[in-house]
Amino acid sequence: MSYYIIEGGIPLKGSIHTQGAKNSAVHLIAASLLAKDEVTLENVPAIADVLKMIKILEKIGAKVAFDQQKHSLSIDSRGPVSPHIIDPIASELRASLSFLGALLARERETSILFPGGCNIGSRPVDFHLKGFSALGAETSLEHGLIQTKAARLTGKRIYLDYPSVGATINLTMVATLAKGETIIENVAEEPEIVDFCNFLKKMGAKIKGAGTKRLCIKGVPYLHGTKHRVIPDRIEGGTYLIAGAITGGELTVKEIVPQHLEPLLVKLQEAGAQITQAKDRVSIKAKGRLKAVNIKTMPYPGFPTDLQNQMIPLLALAEGTSVITETVFENRFLSVSELRKMGANIRIEGQSVVIQGVESLTGAKLASPNLRGGASLVLAALAANGSSEVHDIEHVERGYEKMEEKLRGSGAKIRRI
Ligand code: EPZ
Repeated sequence: MSYYIIEGGIPLKGSIHTQGAKNSAVHLIAASLLAKDEVTLENVPAIADVLKMIKILEKIGAKVAFDQQKHSLSIDSRGPVSPHIIDPIASELRASLSFLGALLARERETSILFPGGCNIGSRPVDFHLKGFSALGAETSLEHGLIQTKAARLTGKRIYLDYPSVGATINLTMVATLAKGETIIENVAEEPEIVDFCNFLKKMGAKIKGAGTKRLCIKGVPYLHGTKHRVIPDRIEGGTYLIAGAITGGELTVKEIVPQHLEPLLVKLQEAGAQITQAKDRVSIKAKGRLKAVNIKTMPYPGFPTDLQNQMIPLLALAEGTSVITETVFENRFLSVSELRKMGANIRIEGQSVVIQGVESLTGAKLASPNLRGGASLVLAALAANGSSEVHDIEHVERGYEKMEEKLRGSGAKIRRI
C-alpha cells in the first residue's frame, strides 16, 4: 500500500491551485442522469471518488469520457440505463446515494447498495427515504439494499429535520421532475448546493431559493443536457491554507471563492495568521506561534465539519488551550490517537476535543483513519521535527488530487512510496 514520507519543518511558500469541488462534482455526475441527453462538466477533479462515480455510470449503461488532464467529463445518457446499482463500488462512497434521487426521478424506480463513505458516524439515510415517500415513492431498506419506486411523483411541502447536504441534493432532484410545486424547508445552504441548483437550472429546472433555508421547486416534464464548470473545492483550498499556517510559511491558494471560506479565514485570523484576499485567491502568512482559538462545527455558513480535523494539529502547536466541538458527525476525532504519537496533548471529552498547545511535534509512523483525518496527519507531519510516514493514503487520495505534487510545488519535502 502506498504511503507518504514527509520531512517536517519547512515553511511552505508560493502558490497552490485548487481542484474542482469533490462534494459538488460527485453529485453533478449523478444528476446528469436527470436529462436523457449529453452533459459536459469542466473542472472535475481527477480523484478516486469521481472515478468511482464514473464507473457506476458506465456500469448502468451511460457513455462517459473523462479527460483527466483537462478535467473535462462528458456524459451521454440518451440511451437506456439500468436503474439498479448493485455493484459493490456503490458501498465504497457516500455520494453513490445521489444516484437514488436521479434514477427515481428518471426511471420512477431504482435500487442501490447502502452507501459507504468515511467512518465518521452512523450516517443513516432516513431523511432521504422520508422525503422520497412524501413525494409519492414507496421505499424499502432490506439486506443492505435501498429500493424506491413511484407510479407518479407529486410535489409536496417537506420539512428536513436537519439541513442534510445529501438529502437536500436527492430531494431536489426528485422534485424537479415531480408534478406540481415542492417546497423543502430547512435545507442545506452549502456552496455546493448552490452550484448544484445552478446546474439543474441550466438543464431547465425551475428552482428558487438556492443558498437559503428554503427551496421552491416547480416540476417540469423533462430536463435537457448542458455544460457546467464545477466550483473550486473550498475544503481542499482550506486544507492548504492551514498547511501554510502550520509550517509558518507564506502561501497563496488560487482559484478559490474567499467567501466560501469565511468561517475558516476568521478563525485563522483570530489565531494570529495574516490573511489577504483577492477575487479568486487567498494568501496566508503565519510568522511565529499562533494563539489558541475555540471552534464549533455547524452546517454552512458555520465552521465546516470537513475542515475540523485539519485544525487539530494547527491548534496542537498554538499557545494556550483550544476546544473544538463537532456537532455534525458523531465520530470525527479518529486522527487524535495518531497525533498523540507525535507529542500532541489532546483530550477527547464527548463531542469535543480539548487541545493544550505544545512547542513542537515530532515525526512518527502514522495511519490515516479516513479522508480528512488523513489530511490532518499530513499537516502535522509537515510541521513536525524530523520525518514522518503517513500510511493508508488511499483515504486521502479519495478527495485530494495530486496532493504530494501540490505540496512539493510549494517547498514541502514529501515523497509518495
Ligand atoms: C456531505 O455528506 C459531504 N459529502 C460530507 O463531506 C460533509 O461532511 C457533509 O455533507 C456535511 O457537510 C458529500 O457531499 C459527498 P449530511 P452527507 O447528510 O450528505 C445525518 C468529506 O469529508 N443524517 O449533511 O452524508 C448524518 O449522519 C465528506 O468530504 C441523518 O441522520 O452529510 C450527519 O450526522 C465527509 N439522516 C448529518 O445528518 C440522513 O438521512 C449531516 O449529514 C442524512 C444525514
